[in-house]
This record gives sequence, structure tokens and C-alpha cells, in this order.
Amino acid sequence: MIGIIFGPPGSGKGTQAARLQEDLGIHHLSTGAILRGEVARGTALGKEVGRIMAAGDLVPDDLIVDVVRARLPEAERGVGALLDGFPRTVAQAQALDRMLADEGHRLSFIVALDVPEEDLEARLLHRAQVEGRTDDTREVIAERMHEYHKLTKAVLDHYREQGVRIDTIDGTGTPDEVFERIRAAVRGISSG
Ligand code: AP5
Ligand code: MG
Repeated sequence: MIGIIFGPPGSGKGTQAARLQEDLGIHHLSTGAILRGEVARGTALGKEVGRIMAAGDLVPDDLIVDVVRARLPEAERGVGALLDGFPRTVAQAQALDRMLADEGHRLSFIVALDVPEEDLEARLLHRAQVEGRTDDTREVIAERMHEYHKLTKAVLDHYREQGVRIDTIDGTGTPDEVFERIRAAVRGISSG
């Protein structure tokens, strides 16, 4: 099973994917978390992407596609993989489709989190105080939202055209409430 957890910055992708990993055993693959790890370790990749991420821009497609290609086979083992933060452009989606087709696989489902924009900013500004993520400033959040609307939203249309199942989930309320909604939707998928 290969799924995508989709949504704008702050919609709860990471929060919910971690819970789904615990609940279903599906492997949570977050490109943002991988890149932040590279930046923290000061690797060559980290040095290349650090400034781009700090500005709230997207890193180049070929670079992130290589990151996913290197990790997908391992992540797909067992129950499968839940992609968080990837694909973020139509070009990335096309690259993913080719990767999966090469293995005789295809995307199983998309869970799209729907949260009003004003809640997103409030959540991220709150996280800035708790976790100190450097891209959680008002200015950088605005740039991340801009990139989402300009490039990432179109990924949903790409998969809608392909007939991939997309469950839009109300992402407001407590994390527990959101999780129950997602679980109900995903349960429907695994039972066909
Ligand atoms: P990435 O790490 O993917 O960041 P993002 O998409 O901006 O999303 P966030 O991680 O901020 O939010 P989330 O939806 O995971 O929400 P969370 O659960 O944390 O990407 C970061 C950067 O990496 C990009 O800007 C780009 O530079 C680069 N990058 C990564 N992938 C890339 C790609 N494929 N291509 C190119 N560049 C790429 O929740 C947010 C906060 O809200 C938390 O504090 C949480 O505790 C809280 N919260 C969660 N749920 C609730 C709730 N129900 N109620 C109240 N608060 C809640
Ligand atoms: Mg996240």
C-alpha cells in the first residue's frame, strides 16, 4: 500500500502520519523531516538545501526525487509507505508514478487534510515557540503557503485525473478527532 497524506503547511500531515504509522504499521516517510536531518548533520545535501528551506521555497525536483527514490523500496516493505510532503509538484508526482510503475505498483490512496488558512498560521506560530523550527516565522509561513497554492495544490488534480481515490478530511478539531476521521476513511480503503 502506498498512500499520500496531503495538505498545506500546518495542516497536521506529520502529526497524523505518525499516528497512522503507530496504528497501522504503515511507514511514515516525510521529506521535510529527512531534509531537516540532513541540514542538522551538515551533509552536502543539507548544505545545499538549508537556505532554500529557511526561505520557505521548494528544493529542486531532481534533488528530492533522488532522496525518495533511495528510500522508497525500504519504506514500502511490510504494510507499505505513507508519503508526507511529497510529491509537492506535478513533476514530482510524475517521477513518483514512474518509480511505482517500474515496480508494478500504483498509488493506493490520498488523504487530503482541509484546514482554514487562519488556523494554519496560528498552529505554525505556536509550534515556533514549542519546537523552534526556523521556517515557522510569519514571513516564511507566507512563502510556504504561496508555494503550496502555486505548485503543490495541482498535485491533487493530477491524481484526480488518474482516478486515484482522494479522501478529503476535515482537519480541524483535536488531533484525536482528526485521527478518527482518517482512520474511518483508511479502513474503507483496506476493505475495498
Ligand atoms: P515540510 O516539513 O513538509 O513542511 P510543511 O509541508 O510546510 O508542513 P509542516 O511540517 O509545517 O506541517 P504538517 O502538515 O506536517 O503539520 P504538523 O503535523 O507538523 O517541508 C519543509 C520544507 O522542506 C519545505 O518548505 C521545502 O523547503 C522542503 N521540502 C520538503 N519536501 C519537499 C518536496 N517534496 N519538494 C521540495 N521541497 C521540499 O502540525 C503543525 C503544528 O500544528 C504542530 O505544532 C502540531 O502539533 C499542531 N497540530 C497538528 N494537528 C493539530 C490539530 N488538530 N489542532 C491543533 N494543532 C494541531
Ligand atoms: Mg510536517
